[in-house]
Amino acid sequence: MLRRLHKDQPASFAFTPANLAWAQGQITKYPVGRQASAIIPLLWRAQEQEGWLSRPAIEHVADMLGLAYIRALEVATFYFMFQLQPVGSVAHIQICGTTSCMICGAEDLVAVAKELISTTPHTLSADGKFSWEEVECLGACANAPMAQIGKDYYEDLTGESLRALIGRFSKGEVPVPGSQIGRYAAEPAGGLTSLKDHAAGRPAHNASAALAVGLGDTVKRIDGTEVPLLTPWLGKATKPAAAPAKAAAKPAATPPAKAAEVTPVGTKPKALKAARAGKADDLKLILGIGPKLEEMCHKLGFFHFDQIAAWAEDEIAWVDENLEGFKGRVTRDKWVVQAKILAAGGTIEEAERAANDPGGKQN
Ligand code: FES
Repeated sequence: MLRRLHKDQPASFAFTPANLAWAQGQITKYPVGRQASAIIPLLWRAQEQEGWLSRPAIEHVADMLGLAYIRALEVATFYFMFQLQPVGSVAHIQICGTTSCMICGAEDLVAVAKELISTTPHTLSADGKFSWEEVECLGACANAPMAQIGKDYYEDLTGESLRALIGRFSKGEVPVPGSQIGRYAAEPAGGLTSLKDHAAGRPAHNASAALAVGLGDTVKRIDGTEVPLLTPWLGKATKPAAAPAKAAAKPAATPPAKAAEVTPVGTKPKALKAARAGKADDLKLILGIGPKLEEMCHKLGFFHFDQIAAWAEDEIAWVDENLEGFKGRVTRDKWVVQAKILAAGGTIEEAERAANDPGGKQN
């Protein structure tokens, strides 16, 4: 299947504040120079937020990680779990079409999806609420045929039960995931043949279905407020901050706090008005500089490797402080070490090696 960006793209993308905090926390999991490893979780969270991955979302993630856009596009277009076109506002239905499911009736499910949603996969229904696709084995073969709807599995389906599920989702309900013919888990469809005593007194749902019911986010878009931030290594709270209590009484009038004194950090390096001879170096060759950071460097008057290579400690501090949204990247990604190599005619590989050498020079 040809995987390419959708023809209609939104103008921009931004993480919600909670998702942004989560994404920044993920990046800190990886050692200096290896932040690109966070690309899949970040793309996934962007998709969880929007339902699909737009070009602005992919580029936004690339900028956060200091990656060239093509690197992020390679990942987004390679993995089928990333949806590159808008999905239904209520649910995207992934019907398993592999052997067990196919033998047990996946074609009936596809027929219902074609009838109720769209004759072609990856196409929105007329009301925009649903989309569908056929996927490879989802690992629930014992309960075939099945479909993943949002985050959860709906199993032991028939054309009619899928039709009913779509109807319920359409009304805003979130049906209980798991077997739709009353199987507890993956025991024989005709009932237990052993360990029968074990069935007495068990909870209403198996662990997976119980968790799904408890979370209740099967088809919900994730804005980041639902889940703990989970960055204990940063000393941050592992739970989202409680929502501010509603003001019970009029707060006492307090004089506005004085603006904190801002201490300028470092010294601005010598900048240029424009690139020498009208031709800037490709700063993106420095590992950690993507198109956004390159643009920012140009705005600050930095166009050439030799400019960056000449930065002293206090100048690095100044640039680190003034990279809006990317503070600290010069030090983190060892721009100066890399720029020295590239300015001297070294290769990208040599610069990359120096950036990734934990025992190597810092600047
Ligand atoms: S064949 Fe459908 S889940 Fe494995």
